[in-house]
Amino acid sequence: MQAEIVVLPGDGIGPEVTRAALRVLRAVGERYGHRFTTHEHLIGGAAIDATGEPLPAATLDACRKADAVLLGAVGGPQWSDPQAKVRPEQGLLAIRKALGLYANLRPVKPHPAALGASPIKPHLLNGVDLLVVRELTGGIYFGDKTRGDGIASDLCTYTVAEIERVVRRACQLARQRRGHVTSVDKANVLETSRLWRETATRIARDEFPDVTLEHQLVDSMAMHLLAKPREYDVIVTENMFGDILTDEASMLAGSLGLLPSASLGEGQIGIYEPIHGSAPDIAGRGIANPYATILSVAMLLRHSLGLEDEAKCVELAVSRALDDGQFTGDLAAGRPAIGTDAAATAVIRQLQ
Ligand code: NAI
Ligand code: MG
Repeated sequence: MQAEIVVLPGDGIGPEVTRAALRVLRAVGERYGHRFTTHEHLIGGAAIDATGEPLPAATLDACRKADAVLLGAVGGPQWSDPQAKVRPEQGLLAIRKALGLYANLRPVKPHPAALGASPIKPHLLNGVDLLVVRELTGGIYFGDKTRGDGIASDLCTYTVAEIERVVRRACQLARQRRGHVTSVDKANVLETSRLWRETATRIARDEFPDVTLEHQLVDSMAMHLLAKPREYDVIVTENMFGDILTDEASMLAGSLGLLPSASLGEGQIGIYEPIHGSAPDIAGRGIANPYATILSVAMLLRHSLGLEDEAKCVELAVSRALDDGQFTGDLAAGRPAIGTDAAATAVIRQLQ
Protein backbone atom coordinates (compact mmCIF):
# COMPACT_ATOMS: atom_id res chain seq x y z
CA MET A 1 0.00 0.00 0.00
CA GLN A 2 0.91 3.65 -0.26
CA ALA A 3 0.38 6.13 2.59
CA GLU A 4 1.17 9.76 3.30
CA ILE A 5 2.29 10.40 6.85
CA VAL A 6 2.83 13.82 8.34
CA VAL A 7 5.55 13.93 10.98
CA LEU A 8 5.50 16.62 13.67
CA PRO A 9 8.72 16.19 15.66
CA GLY A 10 8.06 19.18 17.97
CA ASP A 11 10.43 20.03 20.79
CA GLY A 12 12.90 18.55 23.26
CA ILE A 13 13.23 14.81 22.77
CA GLY A 14 10.37 14.91 20.20
CA PRO A 15 12.73 15.06 17.18
CA GLU A 16 14.95 12.32 18.66
CA VAL A 17 12.17 9.81 19.30
CA THR A 18 10.31 10.49 16.04
CA ARG A 19 13.52 10.06 14.03
CA ALA A 20 14.05 6.69 15.70
CA ALA A 21 10.43 5.63 15.14
CA LEU A 22 10.57 6.62 11.47
CA ARG A 23 13.52 4.28 10.97
CA VAL A 24 11.29 1.49 12.24
CA LEU A 25 8.43 2.60 9.97
CA ARG A 26 10.75 2.53 6.96
CA ALA A 27 11.94 -0.95 7.92
CA VAL A 28 8.30 -2.12 8.08
CA GLY A 29 7.71 -0.59 4.64
CA GLU A 30 10.68 -2.47 3.20
CA ARG A 31 9.74 -5.74 4.82
CA TYR A 32 6.11 -5.67 3.70
CA GLY A 33 6.49 -3.76 0.42
CA HIS A 34 4.60 -0.61 1.42
CA ARG A 35 5.44 2.91 0.35
CA PHE A 36 5.22 5.28 3.28
CA THR A 37 5.88 8.87 2.26
CA THR A 38 6.67 11.17 5.17
CA HIS A 39 6.50 14.99 5.30
CA GLU A 40 7.83 16.91 8.24
CA HIS A 41 6.03 19.99 9.58
CA LEU A 42 6.29 22.41 12.48
CA ILE A 43 4.35 22.35 15.74
CA GLY A 44 4.82 23.65 19.28
CA GLY A 45 7.83 25.68 20.35
CA ALA A 46 9.71 24.99 17.13
CA ALA A 47 6.74 26.44 15.21
CA ILE A 48 6.53 29.47 17.51
CA ASP A 49 10.22 30.20 16.91
CA ALA A 50 9.85 29.87 13.14
CA THR A 51 6.42 31.44 12.55
CA GLY A 52 5.14 32.96 15.79
CA GLU A 53 2.31 30.40 15.98
CA PRO A 54 2.20 27.02 17.75
CA LEU A 55 0.11 25.49 14.92
CA PRO A 56 0.87 27.12 11.56
CA ALA A 57 -1.85 26.84 8.90
CA ALA A 58 0.54 24.90 6.64
CA THR A 59 0.89 22.21 9.31
CA LEU A 60 -2.86 21.84 9.77
CA ASP A 61 -3.43 21.73 5.98
CA ALA A 62 -0.84 19.00 5.59
CA CYS A 63 -2.38 16.97 8.42
CA ARG A 64 -5.85 17.21 6.89
CA LYS A 65 -4.53 15.75 3.63
CA ALA A 66 -2.49 12.99 5.25
CA ASP A 67 -3.44 9.41 6.08
CA ALA A 68 -1.98 9.74 9.57
CA VAL A 69 0.14 11.98 11.77
CA LEU A 70 3.10 10.94 13.91
CA LEU A 71 3.92 13.44 16.63
CA GLY A 72 6.82 13.68 19.08
CA ALA A 73 6.15 16.11 21.92
CA VAL A 74 5.93 19.84 22.44
CA GLY A 75 6.95 22.35 25.06
CA GLY A 76 9.95 23.38 27.08
CA PRO A 77 11.16 25.95 29.59
CA GLN A 78 12.09 28.50 26.90
CA TRP A 79 8.39 28.86 25.97
CA SER A 80 6.97 28.65 29.49
CA ASP A 81 6.95 32.32 30.46
CA PRO A 82 3.61 32.80 32.28
CA GLN A 83 3.14 36.14 30.49
CA ALA A 84 3.58 34.55 27.03
CA LYS A 85 0.61 34.97 24.68
CA VAL A 86 1.33 31.77 22.78
CA ARG A 87 2.45 28.45 24.23
CA PRO A 88 3.57 25.25 22.49
CA GLU A 89 0.82 23.19 24.18
CA GLN A 90 -1.81 25.34 22.42
CA GLY A 91 -0.64 23.82 19.15
CA LEU A 92 -1.33 20.34 20.46
CA LEU A 93 -4.79 21.19 21.77
CA ALA A 94 -5.62 23.02 18.54
CA ILE A 95 -4.65 20.19 16.21
CA ARG A 96 -6.58 17.58 18.21
CA LYS A 97 -9.64 19.84 18.15
CA ALA A 98 -9.30 20.81 14.47
CA LEU A 99 -9.09 17.17 13.38
CA GLY A 100 -11.95 16.14 15.71
CA LEU A 101 -9.82 13.57 17.53
CA TYR A 102 -11.93 13.11 20.63
CA ALA A 103 -10.81 9.65 21.71
CA ASN A 104 -7.28 9.18 22.99
CA LEU A 105 -6.40 5.49 23.36
CA ARG A 106 -3.63 4.73 25.85
CA PRO A 107 -2.92 1.02 26.28
CA VAL A 108 -0.95 -0.10 29.32
CA LYS A 109 0.48 -3.62 29.25
CA PRO A 110 3.60 -4.02 31.37
CA HIS A 111 6.35 -6.00 29.73
CA PRO A 112 7.92 -8.65 32.00
CA ALA A 113 11.45 -7.47 31.22
CA ALA A 114 10.62 -3.89 32.17
CA LEU A 115 9.03 -4.74 35.53
CA GLY A 116 12.32 -4.05 37.27
CA ALA A 117 11.88 -0.38 36.38
CA SER A 118 8.46 -0.17 38.03
CA PRO A 119 8.15 0.94 41.66
CA ILE A 120 5.14 -1.41 42.02
CA LYS A 121 5.56 -4.94 43.37
CA PRO A 122 5.88 -7.41 40.46
CA HIS A 123 3.14 -9.75 41.71
CA LEU A 124 0.61 -6.91 41.27
CA LEU A 125 1.71 -6.32 37.69
CA ASN A 126 1.58 -9.79 36.17
CA GLY A 127 -1.32 -9.93 33.73
CA VAL A 128 -2.08 -6.21 33.72
CA ASP A 129 -3.60 -5.29 30.36
CA LEU A 130 -5.69 -2.15 30.37
CA LEU A 131 -6.72 0.53 27.93
CA VAL A 132 -7.45 4.07 29.01
CA VAL A 133 -9.77 5.97 26.67
CA ARG A 134 -9.28 9.63 27.48
CA GLU A 135 -11.71 12.24 26.14
CA LEU A 136 -9.45 14.64 24.26
CA THR A 137 -11.29 17.66 22.86
CA GLY A 138 -13.48 18.85 25.72
CA GLY A 139 -13.41 19.62 29.42
CA ILE A 140 -11.32 22.05 31.41
CA TYR A 141 -8.38 22.18 29.00
CA PHE A 142 -10.63 23.81 26.41
CA GLY A 143 -12.85 25.96 28.65
CA ASP A 144 -12.74 29.75 28.98
CA LYS A 145 -9.87 30.96 31.11
CA THR A 146 -9.82 34.16 33.11
CA ARG A 147 -7.15 35.89 35.08
CA GLY A 148 -7.83 38.81 37.42
CA ASP A 149 -5.90 40.41 40.22
CA GLY A 150 -5.18 37.53 42.56
CA ILE A 151 -7.79 35.27 41.00
CA ALA A 152 -7.99 32.86 38.06
CA SER A 153 -10.55 30.45 36.63
CA ASP A 154 -10.81 27.60 34.12
CA LEU A 155 -14.22 26.48 32.98
CA CYS A 156 -15.03 22.78 32.58
CA THR A 157 -17.81 22.02 30.10
CA TYR A 158 -19.12 18.81 28.55
CA THR A 159 -22.08 18.26 26.26
CA VAL A 160 -24.07 15.03 26.15
CA ALA A 161 -22.92 14.48 22.56
CA GLU A 162 -19.26 14.74 23.56
CA ILE A 163 -19.73 12.20 26.33
CA GLU A 164 -21.81 9.82 24.21
CA ARG A 165 -19.28 9.48 21.42
CA VAL A 166 -16.29 8.75 23.64
CA VAL A 167 -18.21 6.31 25.85
CA ARG A 168 -19.47 4.57 22.70
CA ARG A 169 -15.90 4.27 21.44
CA ALA A 170 -14.80 2.82 24.79
CA CYS A 171 -17.63 0.26 24.76
CA GLN A 172 -16.80 -0.76 21.19
CA LEU A 173 -13.18 -1.29 22.18
CA ALA A 174 -14.24 -3.27 25.26
CA ARG A 175 -16.18 -5.64 22.99
CA GLN A 176 -12.92 -6.57 21.28
CA ARG A 177 -11.32 -7.10 24.69
CA ARG A 178 -12.74 -8.45 27.95
CA GLY A 179 -16.08 -6.61 27.77
CA HIS A 180 -15.60 -4.47 30.85
CA VAL A 181 -15.65 -0.67 31.06
CA THR A 182 -14.85 1.45 34.11
CA SER A 183 -16.08 5.02 33.76
CA VAL A 184 -14.14 7.45 35.94
CA ASP A 185 -15.62 10.74 37.15
CA LYS A 186 -16.05 12.94 40.21
CA ALA A 187 -19.85 12.75 40.28
CA ASN A 188 -20.03 13.42 44.01
CA VAL A 189 -18.79 16.98 43.40
CA LEU A 190 -18.85 18.03 39.74
CA GLU A 191 -21.93 18.70 37.63
CA THR A 192 -20.07 17.73 34.42
CA SER A 193 -19.29 14.42 36.10
CA ARG A 194 -22.95 13.82 36.97
CA LEU A 195 -23.85 14.36 33.32
CA TRP A 196 -20.95 12.06 32.39
CA ARG A 197 -22.19 9.30 34.68
CA GLU A 198 -25.85 9.51 33.54
CA THR A 199 -24.80 9.49 29.90
CA ALA A 200 -22.36 6.61 30.27
CA THR A 201 -25.00 4.58 32.12
CA ARG A 202 -27.58 5.15 29.37
CA ILE A 203 -25.24 4.41 26.46
CA ALA A 204 -23.99 1.18 28.04
CA ARG A 205 -27.52 0.03 28.98
CA ASP A 206 -29.20 0.90 25.65
CA GLU A 207 -26.46 0.13 23.13
CA PHE A 208 -24.02 -2.28 24.78
CA PRO A 209 -25.95 -4.81 26.88
CA ASP A 210 -23.04 -7.22 26.40
CA VAL A 211 -20.57 -4.83 28.04
CA THR A 212 -20.45 -4.38 31.81
CA LEU A 213 -20.06 -0.82 33.02
CA GLU A 214 -18.95 0.25 36.47
CA HIS A 215 -18.37 3.74 37.82
CA GLN A 216 -15.43 4.87 39.88
CA LEU A 217 -14.60 8.21 41.46
CA VAL A 218 -11.30 9.54 40.21
CA ASP A 219 -9.62 9.85 43.59
CA SER A 220 -10.25 6.25 44.54
CA MET A 221 -9.40 5.22 40.97
CA ALA A 222 -5.95 6.73 41.49
CA MET A 223 -5.53 4.35 44.39
CA HIS A 224 -7.05 1.24 42.78
CA LEU A 225 -4.91 1.68 39.70
CA LEU A 226 -1.86 0.94 41.83
CA ALA A 227 -3.46 -1.51 44.27
CA LYS A 228 -5.30 -3.81 41.82
CA PRO A 229 -4.42 -2.81 38.23
CA ARG A 230 -5.19 -6.32 36.91
CA GLU A 231 -8.90 -5.81 37.50
CA TYR A 232 -9.27 -3.14 34.83
CA ASP A 233 -10.00 -3.65 31.14
CA VAL A 234 -11.16 -0.40 29.49
CA ILE A 235 -11.15 2.81 31.53
CA VAL A 236 -13.02 5.76 30.02
CA THR A 237 -12.71 9.22 31.46
CA GLU A 238 -12.72 12.93 30.80
CA ASN A 239 -9.76 14.89 29.51
CA MET A 240 -7.87 16.01 32.61
CA PHE A 241 -8.53 12.87 34.68
CA GLY A 242 -7.27 10.76 31.77
CA ASP A 243 -4.15 12.88 31.44
CA ILE A 244 -3.27 12.42 35.10
CA LEU A 245 -4.28 8.76 35.48
CA THR A 246 -2.20 7.70 32.48
CA ASP A 247 1.01 9.26 33.77
CA GLU A 248 0.26 7.32 36.93
CA ALA A 249 -0.44 4.19 34.88
CA SER A 250 2.92 4.55 33.15
CA MET A 251 4.50 3.47 36.41
CA LEU A 252 2.78 0.10 35.99
CA ALA A 253 4.69 -0.30 32.73
CA GLY A 254 7.91 0.96 34.30
CA SER A 255 8.39 4.21 32.40
CA LEU A 256 6.58 7.00 30.62
CA GLY A 257 8.87 6.10 27.75
CA LEU A 258 6.90 2.90 27.08
CA LEU A 259 3.37 4.23 26.65
CA PRO A 260 2.05 4.99 23.16
CA SER A 261 -1.21 6.63 22.21
CA ALA A 262 -3.63 7.02 19.34
CA SER A 263 -5.98 9.98 19.04
CA LEU A 264 -8.96 9.11 16.90
CA GLY A 265 -12.15 10.71 15.63
CA GLU A 266 -14.81 9.48 13.21
CA GLY A 267 -12.56 9.40 10.16
CA GLN A 268 -9.48 7.42 9.25
CA ILE A 269 -6.96 10.08 10.21
CA GLY A 270 -5.38 9.88 13.64
CA ILE A 271 -2.52 11.41 15.56
CA TYR A 272 -0.08 8.95 17.07
CA GLU A 273 2.27 10.05 19.81
CA PRO A 274 3.95 8.88 22.98
CA ILE A 275 2.12 9.99 26.12
CA HIS A 276 5.23 11.61 27.54
CA GLY A 277 6.27 15.23 27.03
CA SER A 278 9.37 16.83 25.58
CA ALA A 279 11.57 15.82 28.56
CA PRO A 280 13.79 18.92 28.48
CA ASP A 281 15.91 17.41 31.27
CA ILE A 282 17.30 14.75 28.92
CA ALA A 283 16.80 16.39 25.49
CA GLY A 284 19.68 16.54 23.01
CA ARG A 285 21.64 13.73 24.63
CA GLY A 286 20.47 10.80 22.52
CA ILE A 287 19.28 8.87 25.57
CA ALA A 288 15.47 9.21 25.36
CA ASN A 289 13.47 6.01 25.21
CA PRO A 290 11.96 5.72 21.69
CA TYR A 291 9.82 2.63 22.42
CA ALA A 292 6.67 4.65 23.20
CA THR A 293 6.94 6.41 19.84
CA ILE A 294 7.74 3.14 18.04
CA LEU A 295 4.68 1.57 19.67
CA SER A 296 2.72 4.63 18.52
CA VAL A 297 3.82 3.73 14.97
CA ALA A 298 2.29 0.29 15.57
CA MET A 299 -0.98 1.96 16.56
CA LEU A 300 -0.76 4.12 13.41
CA LEU A 301 -0.37 1.04 11.24
CA ARG A 302 -3.36 -0.57 12.97
CA HIS A 303 -5.85 2.26 13.32
CA SER A 304 -5.20 4.57 10.36
CA LEU A 305 -3.77 2.18 7.76
CA GLY A 306 -5.57 -1.06 8.70
CA LEU A 307 -2.26 -2.97 8.73
CA GLU A 308 -2.85 -5.28 11.70
CA ASP A 309 -0.10 -7.80 10.87
CA GLU A 310 2.46 -5.03 10.52
CA ALA A 311 1.29 -3.46 13.79
CA LYS A 312 1.65 -6.76 15.66
CA CYS A 313 5.05 -7.28 14.09
CA VAL A 314 6.30 -3.93 15.46
CA GLU A 315 4.85 -4.68 18.91
CA LEU A 316 6.49 -8.08 18.93
CA ALA A 317 9.81 -6.58 17.83
CA VAL A 318 9.74 -4.09 20.74
CA SER A 319 8.81 -6.87 23.11
CA ARG A 320 11.71 -9.01 21.87
CA ALA A 321 14.13 -6.09 22.12
CA LEU A 322 13.11 -5.76 25.78
CA ASP A 323 13.41 -9.52 26.30
CA ASP A 324 16.88 -9.17 24.86
CA GLY A 325 17.76 -6.59 27.54
CA GLN A 326 17.86 -3.58 25.23
CA PHE A 327 17.03 -0.96 27.86
CA THR A 328 17.32 2.80 27.65
CA GLY A 329 18.35 4.59 30.85
CA ASP A 330 14.79 5.03 32.15
CA LEU A 331 14.31 1.24 32.12
CA ALA A 332 17.77 0.11 33.07
CA ALA A 333 17.37 0.16 36.89
CA GLY A 334 21.08 -0.42 37.36
CA ARG A 335 21.53 -2.59 34.26
CA PRO A 336 23.55 -1.41 31.23
CA ALA A 337 21.70 1.18 29.13
CA ILE A 338 21.65 1.94 25.41
CA GLY A 339 20.77 5.18 23.59
CA THR A 340 17.81 6.17 21.44
CA ASP A 341 19.26 5.11 18.11
CA ALA A 342 20.56 1.82 19.44
CA ALA A 343 17.10 1.02 20.79
CA ALA A 344 15.57 1.66 17.34
CA THR A 345 18.26 -0.50 15.78
CA ALA A 346 17.44 -3.27 18.26
CA VAL A 347 13.78 -3.16 17.21
CA ILE A 348 14.66 -3.15 13.50
CA ARG A 349 16.92 -6.16 14.02
CA GLN A 350 13.98 -8.02 15.58
CA LEU A 351 11.73 -7.07 12.64
CA GLN A 352 13.98 -8.89 10.20
P1 NAI B 1 7.73 14.77 30.51
O1 NAI B 1 6.80 13.68 30.15
O2 NAI B 1 8.37 15.51 29.41
O3 NAI B 1 8.88 14.20 31.46
C1 NAI B 1 8.62 13.65 32.74
C2 NAI B 1 9.84 12.82 33.19
O4 NAI B 1 9.88 11.60 32.44
C3 NAI B 1 11.16 13.52 32.94
O5 NAI B 1 12.06 13.21 33.96
C4 NAI B 1 11.65 12.91 31.64
O6 NAI B 1 13.04 12.90 31.49
C5 NAI B 1 11.08 11.50 31.70
N1 NAI B 1 10.77 11.01 30.36
C6 NAI B 1 9.71 11.38 29.59
N2 NAI B 1 9.76 10.77 28.41
C7 NAI B 1 10.86 9.99 28.41
C8 NAI B 1 11.44 9.11 27.46
N3 NAI B 1 10.91 8.90 26.25
N4 NAI B 1 12.60 8.47 27.80
C9 NAI B 1 13.15 8.66 29.01
N5 NAI B 1 12.63 9.47 29.94
C10 NAI B 1 11.50 10.14 29.66
O7 NAI B 1 6.89 15.77 31.43
P2 NAI B 1 7.32 17.18 32.04
O8 NAI B 1 8.76 17.16 32.40
O9 NAI B 1 6.32 17.45 33.06
O10 NAI B 1 7.09 18.23 30.87
C11 NAI B 1 8.10 18.71 30.00
C12 NAI B 1 7.49 19.53 28.89
O11 NAI B 1 6.71 18.68 28.05
C13 NAI B 1 6.54 20.62 29.36
O12 NAI B 1 6.75 21.74 28.56
C14 NAI B 1 5.16 20.04 29.14
O13 NAI B 1 4.20 21.02 28.92
C15 NAI B 1 5.40 19.24 27.90
N6 NAI B 1 4.45 18.12 27.72
C16 NAI B 1 4.09 17.85 26.44
C17 NAI B 1 3.28 16.79 26.16
C18 NAI B 1 3.01 16.48 24.73
O14 NAI B 1 3.63 17.02 23.85
N7 NAI B 1 2.09 15.58 24.45
C19 NAI B 1 2.73 15.93 27.23
C20 NAI B 1 3.24 16.26 28.53
C21 NAI B 1 4.05 17.34 28.76
MG1 MG C 1 0.13 14.28 30.00
